[in-house]
Amino acid sequence: MVVSLVLQEEPAPQTYSPGPPDMAPHHGRLLKGTRKLKYLITGGAGFIGSHLSDRLTADGHEVVVIDDLSTGRIENIEHLIRSRRIEFVEGSITDEDLMVGVLESVDACVHLASIVGVSLVVDRPVDTLLSNVRGSDVVLSAAAGLQKPVLYASTSEVYGKLSNGALDEHADRILGAIQKNRWNYATSKSFGEALALGYAKELGSRNTVVRLFNTVGPRQTGMYGMVLPRFVRQAVSGQPLTVFGDGTQTRCFAHVYDTVDALVRLLDCEEAAGGVFNIGNDTEISILGLARRVIARSGSDSDVRFVPYSEAYDEGFEELGRRKPDTGLLRGLTGWAPERSVDEAIDDVILHERAGMNGVLEAEQVA
Ligand SMILES: NC(=O)c1ccc[n+]([C@@H]2O[C@H](COP(=O)([O-])OP(=O)(O)OC[C@H]3O[C@@H](n4cnc5c(N)ncnc54)[C@H](O)[C@@H]3O)[C@@H](O)[C@H]2O)c1
Repeated sequence: MVVSLVLQEEPAPQTYSPGPPDMAPHHGRLLKGTRKLKYLITGGAGFIGSHLSDRLTADGHEVVVIDDLSTGRIENIEHLIRSRRIEFVEGSITDEDLMVGVLESVDACVHLASIVGVSLVVDRPVDTLLSNVRGSDVVLSAAAGLQKPVLYASTSEVYGKLSNGALDEHADRILGAIQKNRWNYATSKSFGEALALGYAKELGSRNTVVRLFNTVGPRQTGMYGMVLPRFVRQAVSGQPLTVFGDGTQTRCFAHVYDTVDALVRLLDCEEAAGGVFNIGNDTEISILGLARRVIARSGSDSDVRFVPYSEAYDEGFEELGRRKPDTGLLRGLTGWAPERSVDEAIDDVILHERAGMNGVLEAEQVA
């Protein structure tokens, strides 16, 4: 049974800015120009899913979003619901009848729904494993039975502790000890990858796996351990920016608009089926460097406060020195390249924060 929530009809402003007009042309398009598709986006009320919903509807496609609103928010997609550009189904991907019903009505699925965020993953190991594994089993198995292609969102966490330069999709993985809860996330996402590829091999499912590296931008919440929204919230409210460890650990931050553009190019690309693709920016920045840039760009007079990992997380945590993607496969196949810098992402998050769109609840949590 499909339960739809349609709010009062009202025209809404288009909030998505799809990128520079001189964007490289797509190669190997599946859609052959003008064909419009109906997509299911699991986790579509979340950070990345809501931007993908904006983009696909702006491109003229139909979109159904299924989300249990556990970490996502209705506010992220309210403008799309009100203007009837998406159908929203509140429910869980672990509900098999629901998923089969929704999948029957669409052409393809982007499977983003997942427990995410270091704090949730470390605090709730059982939920992380069971919800991600069961949910991905339901989505991928139902889609395979109905012969619907799935683009499955995995994570750079599956590389584990590998940190020797840019990581490519065929690299061996080095996961930490099973007692460290952090690695449950990688374990659950690896299961999804293997199942997506397994159905591609055994049943010919046109599944594609993407490994997302850090993605940032407006609508990301800082409640579950995401660093940039937390730093921005702290900076604009004049509090110290809490840097875990000594801040020398580096990451590469992609603007969510660039990540969404990569997802759309892969959806449009027939040759992507059966493949695994890294998506991420390759410019490295230390976490301390990120904190300083947030302070400078927001004009804040906040300081930096260093917090030992043992204080920030329980013993289930293990930090990584570095994580950088090799995106050669994605670039070669689709012509994608990131167009936006980390500074642009910081500015957009500051604007979003200042516009007061993140809600009072989080403000109370940071305070
Ligand atoms: N943001 C990043 O930097 C990043 C990095 C690596 C991988 N990813 C992956 O990208 C995807 C999207 O992440 P995000 O950053 O947008 O996080 P998010 O928390 O904003 O989005 C996840 C969405 O899934 C929904 N959800 C969770 N469990 C569900 C369930 N059982 N049934 C239905 N809906 C459910 C949540 O309510 C939320 O809306 C996830 O699969 C995540 O693992 C994100």
